[in-house]
Amino acid sequence: MSTQRVQVAIIGAGPSGLLLGQLLHKAGIDAIVIERQSPDYVLGRIRAGILEQITVDLLHEAGVGERVHSEGTVHHSIELVFANTRHPIDVTGLTQGKVVTAYGQTEVTRDLMDARQAAGLPSIYEAAHVQLHDFKGASPRVSYEKDGRSHVIECDFIAGCDGFHGICRASVPPGAIREYEKVYPFGWLGVLADVPPVSPHAVVYANSDRGFALCSMRSLTRSRYYVQCPMDDKVSNWSDDRFWDELRRRLDPDMAERMVTGPSIEKSIAPLRSFVAEPMRFGRLFLAGDAAHIVPPTGAKGLNLAASDVKYLSNALIEHYLEKSDAGIDHYSQRALARVWRAARFSWWLTSLMHQFPDTAGFGQKVQEAELDYLVHSESMSRSLSENYVGLPLDFGGALGLPTSS
Ligand code: APR
Ligand code: PHB
Repeated sequence: MSTQRVQVAIIGAGPSGLLLGQLLHKAGIDAIVIERQSPDYVLGRIRAGILEQITVDLLHEAGVGERVHSEGTVHHSIELVFANTRHPIDVTGLTQGKVVTAYGQTEVTRDLMDARQAAGLPSIYEAAHVQLHDFKGASPRVSYEKDGRSHVIECDFIAGCDGFHGICRASVPPGAIREYEKVYPFGWLGVLADVPPVSPHAVVYANSDRGFALCSMRSLTRSRYYVQCPMDDKVSNWSDDRFWDELRRRLDPDMAERMVTGPSIEKSIAPLRSFVAEPMRFGRLFLAGDAAHIVPPTGAKGLNLAASDVKYLSNALIEHYLEKSDAGIDHYSQRALARVWRAARFSWWLTSLMHQFPDTAGFGQKVQEAELDYLVHSESMSRSLSENYVGLPLDFGGALGLPTSS
């Protein structure tokens, strides 16, 4: 058995873990990343791709901003489609100049992986049986197996960045954690295709009586589209032709006409769920990203929330090591959860507004159309949507009665 010592053991090499590793490295704090899967497996997962400015800024701060800057596509608006009609919302105009950037999570992960490798920082992929020990006390440890050999890492802190199904949240005694959950009665069927996006400068959110549809992109030559589907639906039920046909029927006629179709390069069904675990700190274990919370993808907030958690956590750890203050650590959970709940609310609201719910067909659809109509004709409501879409500020310190620094 080998034993190693680091300051911070990061469990999970998704965007949360890799971004945290990079920010800690920049501050001279030594960390190891332990991941259950292989790098290729991690890069094979297709997730959302709309980055708030806060997330883009953080990628720059972490030293990996070059490609998102040169290859990301800046969006100034979104488009809502309902009753077969398109309604642009001038997000930038309503938020004093703020924008979002279309750049896939896969690319964010790739940039962070490359930077970690280039800096020669330690990452253990394909680590089996990862276990956490003694994180309530002063000397936590992480054990794992790799190639049939056992390893132990002694550390000051454990960062649980291992996603919704990870081991970190599951290691907390049930009495110490409270979980809030809402499962939606439908899924999203997503298709990735190398065709030019129907709307290269705005994500399109469509409410139709056939169900929700979304048009997004990864680049000017790669599109990402989704349609709402029954939660027990199977990918095998959906030929490419059926998908394109259904997508077109949920859009306005002009967009349906302009849509360029082609063979799918990925097709998958994802369930929709809202989930928040409180608190996000247990002694010397911190949860960040999907390990602590899941939002339905409708507002594209999952990756952005992971980034803001990591910003709060890296600041807290930097304060601990460099300024010998534990204020950030002590406030991490409260600070992160304040932003998490605001994004959970927004994602739930947009999901409720845009989808067909099995139990409210007819009346529910009409009420949604009335709310959408109000939304696109009310500057204050459009502004509220826009300020949530570009991302709420990082610092709720004033409202929480916390110091404003980290
Ligand atoms: N041991 C080690 N690693 C693990 C374990 C384990 N027991 N369990 C899970 N992991 C790894 C997963 O294989 C995955 O690579 O933790 C990583 C978690 O990554 P993500 O699920 O991508 O979560 P996170 O980094 O928080 O990113 C949040 O991902 O799901 C999206 O919408 C979400 O965009 C958001 C982002
Ligand atoms: C995506 O690009 O995959 C995407 C974009 C916006 C969303 C959800 C997903 O709201």
